[in-house]
Amino acid sequence: MRLHALVALLFSAVALTAGTHAQHHHHRGHRRQAELAAVATTSTHSGSSSSSPSSPPASTPTLSSSTTSSPGSISTGSSSSSTNSSPSSPASVPTGQNGVPPLSMISSGMPTGTSSPLASTYTPGATPPVPGAPPLPTAFVFNAADWPAQDKVPDTNSPQVQQWIQELEGFDIPDWSPTADGTCVGDPAAAAEGKTRGWWTCGGTTRDTDITACPKKYDWGVSFDDGPSPWSGTLLNYLSKQAIKATFFVVGSRVIERPAVLIEEYMAGHEISVHTWSHRPLTSLTNEQIVAELGWTRMAIQKVLGVTPTTMRPPYGDIDDRVRAIALAMGMVPIIWTSAPSSGPFDTNDWRVAGGLVNATTSFDTFQSILGNASTLSTGFIVLQHDLYEITVDLAVGYTLNAALTHNPPFSLKPIGTCSNIPATNMYSESNQNTTFPYTNHTVITSKNSNSSSSAAQSSSNTANGRVSVSWLVAGLVGVGCAVVHLMN
Ligand SMILES: *[C@@H]1O[C@H](CO)[C@@H](O)[C@H](O)[C@H]1NC(C)=O
Ligand SMILES: *[C@@H]1O[C@H](CO)[C@@H](O)[C@H](O)[C@H]1NC(C)=O
Ligand SMILES: *[C@@H]1O[C@H](CO)[C@@H](O)[C@H](O)[C@H]1NC(C)=O
Ligand SMILES: *[C@@H]1O[C@H](CO)[C@@H](O)[C@H](O)[C@H]1NC(C)=O
Ligand SMILES: *[C@@H]1O[C@H](CO)[C@@H](O)[C@H](O)[C@H]1NC(C)=O
Repeated sequence: MRLHALVALLFSAVALTAGTHAQHHHHRGHRRQAELAAVATTSTHSGSSSSSPSSPPASTPTLSSSTTSSPGSISTGSSSSSTNSSPSSPASVPTGQNGVPPLSMISSGMPTGTSSPLASTYTPGATPPVPGAPPLPTAFVFNAADWPAQDKVPDTNSPQVQQWIQELEGFDIPDWSPTADGTCVGDPAAAAEGKTRGWWTCGGTTRDTDITACPKKYDWGVSFDDGPSPWSGTLLNYLSKQAIKATFFVVGSRVIERPAVLIEEYMAGHEISVHTWSHRPLTSLTNEQIVAELGWTRMAIQKVLGVTPTTMRPPYGDIDDRVRAIALAMGMVPIIWTSAPSSGPFDTNDWRVAGGLVNATTSFDTFQSILGNASTLSTGFIVLQHDLYEITVDLAVGYTLNAALTHNPPFSLKPIGTCSNIPATNMYSESNQNTTFPYTNHTVITSKNSNSSSSAAQSSSNTANGRVSVSWLVAGLVGVGCAVVHLMN
């Protein structure tokens, strides 16, 4: 079972003092332990296994590394077969809205239901809905020897990673040291530099190369993170019925387990984006590890779909200028979710319910009040949801998306590329015709050792690897006035 490291602390920027850090840090240890305990007693929605409690958000290793098999035989990969170890039968859960149990019954200990099977089967050679994208490739066959261990930061000495590292040549990657664990509270020294580092999770800084909101008021950018999972089928069926398209931020370790789910998402017209291999906070990793996390996920998606995403989302939103520069150098534009000054992040907090931190009623109430702030924004917004667990899918299908559809004034639900007016062809490098997206020549630099003029001088002499030299942009800060320490998304 995947362990959540679940903490969301919101505190204002003015509260970012050493004293506050110490205090939050103190709480955090206890809280995380409680959360882990809560998760450990949760019904086993995604199957097997355990992870080290000290590793923040490790996902479930569900493939034996010695397994070499066809996709169909991969552990919990079948979308209809993941009921196990549940004391009650699915029939004991009353059915409420959209076939989902009533809000009051949705909790981390609830009996496991049955997920919907995938609606369609696509064969190799099928034509994808993205103009110019290649036909679906030969069916993906998992071979353990081809891939790093699931849910672990991949080895950086492999020939693949060594090759991908060369993509950074010609780009000035800020030399910030990795943070302790991707949180303000875990690394007070790095936190003190949060604004300078452009660290979103610690200071709320965004850069103009980040996609953080849908530009049009009342547009709701729909996103689901951490799949494909056994529950994605239920979500996909609902989205199809309601004619809603979303962006799926997929984890490489899950992609190789459930290639058929990824294909269904892509072929149904949803957008696919990179969400790393092992779901670690990226600011806590070395440059080479970040390359490995993005590179292997990008490759898993390409092997299954034949296309390579030009966008990525950092787990937990944990990004700083070093992570940005690496993602952009590798051809991936970062996408976060909207954080409004008045209400904080547009996070459904579905993950907190799955982790047993709050009940579904409270979580949904909180989200509805966040939604109330939509009318105060001049833009639309991007909402964070998850399709990893049955509970998070239940909340989406039964409640959150339903609230969106029935809201007055109506929200317009769109995938994030679409709401951002990015042509569908831009979303994958194989179909992309646009030379200015992703911004391969354009990154942000804020380095403690170099100001913008000196680094520009430095980089203009470096055109290695056939790339144009980097034109530096010290992007304006879009301060959101609050710091978000956000450990699960
Ligand atoms: C949910 O939690 C809130 C706050 O702790 C509590 O007041 C409420 O009764 C709970 N609801 C259910 C259905 O457990
Ligand atoms: C905005 O969000 C905050 C925090 O969730 C909430 O207390 C407030 O009522 C919301 N504002 C509106 C206008 O709904
Ligand atoms: C290229 O992408 C950028 C960023 O999305 C967009 O503003 C521009 O219109 C695109 N150009 C073309 C020709 O599609
Ligand atoms: C670099 O990117 C920026 C913005 O994406 C664009 O305006 C500029 O023309 C590009 N420069 C080169 C040399 O391609
Ligand atoms: C930036 O670097 C240049 C070249 O090293 C130096 O001349 C300049 O004074 C620096 N500017 C600032 C604001 O530090």
